This record gives sequence, structure tokens and C-alpha cells, in this order.
Amino acid sequence: MFITMEGIEGSGKTTQIANITRYLEVSGYAYMVTREPGGTKIGEKIRRILLDQEHHMLDAMAELLLYTADRAQHVSEKIKPALEEGKIVLCDRFYDSTIAYQGAARGIDADTIKTLNNLVLKDISPDVTFLLDLSPEIGLLRAWSEINTGSRDMGQSRFECEKILFHENVRKGYLALAEAEPQRIKRIDATLSPGAVEDAILTELKRFLRSRPS
Ligand code: TMP
Repeated sequence: MFITMEGIEGSGKTTQIANITRYLEVSGYAYMVTREPGGTKIGEKIRRILLDQEHHMLDAMAELLLYTADRAQHVSEKIKPALEEGKIVLCDRFYDSTIAYQGAARGIDADTIKTLNNLVLKDISPDVTFLLDLSPEIGLLRAWSEINTGSRDMGQSRFECEKILFHENVRKGYLALAEAEPQRIKRIDATLSPGAVEDAILTELKRFLRSRPS
């Protein structure tokens, strides 16, 4: 089973991934936690290029191709083998991020993104996706306070330096996806307390796990 976690900057993905991981661990599931960009050794290098604040001149198509290259490596080296072993794969961001960031916010057309994604996916797609939804005003404030207190890596902030409109468009992209695929994408109100967000996610996850053949 393939679970993905999505959301704008400061939506609390890291905390909730840790919560789901703890649940999978104590429940005895075989699982793998990973992330994009950067789920592999090669992907970590691509991640550094993508998030480096000095790379503000990075061309939008080059950016898309780098995310796609990261995904190609990630799917073939880690995700597909883990799913074939019967593991639950929990991934911090996947292709919905590309549709929201490079598509809805950067303006690259959906067909180009879909074509590139299909080249690297090897028939893999998330079974369930949690979208942690909140306004960019709140999300960016949270992200910046984490940077200031040292709990978030400053190197992650190329996207955090984008204007608020960029993040509003990312959010719109996500919400359009959630509307188009309500069965897969579960929108969670990320303005709730971390405990309430965790409860909402685990309720959905348990329902989903029960409905799957073991
Ligand atoms: P993170 O901060 O959640 O680790 O994600 C790194 C950044 O990469 C985040 O700003 C979103 C961005 N991103 C894209 O723009 N496109 C993608 O396809 C992915 C996976 C991430």
C-alpha cells in the first residue's frame, strides 16, 4: 500500500509523518518511510540543487525535470521494490506536489507534467493521500518560525522565499486535485491542533487499512 502526505510549507507534514510511523510501528506493519525530493542517495543530491536558495534563476522546466529525475530514481530504487515486498510505503510528497507546485503555481501545463510523470511511475500511484490544508499566511509563518528557532533547515527555503501568491496557487492546485479525486485525497484541516490533525489522519488511515485485503 502506498500512502502519501501533501501540503504547503508549514502544514505540519513532518509531525504527522512521525505520528503515522509510530502507529504503523506499534501495530506491527512492515513499512518504509521516505520523501521527495531526496528519498535516495542520488535524490539527496538532486534535493540540494532544487532547494538551494542561490538557485533562484533555476528554469521552471529544469526544475520540473529535476523533480522528475528524483522520482524516477526513487520509484525504481526504493518505492517499487518496497511495495513488491508487501510493505506499506509512506512518502512525504509525491506527484501531487509536482502538479500543485510546477503546474498550478509555476504554470507548466498539466499534459507536460502528466507525460513526464507517466514516464517514471512504472504503474505506481498512491492508494491514499493526506492533504494537510491551511492558508499560506499561517503555513509560512509556521515555517519561518521553525527556521528561526533552528528546528528547520535554512537550506529548505528556496520555495519559502516565493511570494504569497505562489503559495496560494499551490494551495489552489492541491484543492482542485482533492476535489477531482475525493476517494484518494483526504483533505485534513491543518489549522487544528497537532493532536486533532493526528486523530483525523489516523481515523481515515484505520478505515482505509480495514477496507484493504490483508
Ligand atoms: P519539503 O520541504 O516538503 O521537503 O519539500 C521540498 C520542496 O520541494 C517544497 O517546497 C515543495 C517542493 N516540491 C516541488 O516543487 N515539486 C515536487 O514535485 C516535489 C516533490 C516537491
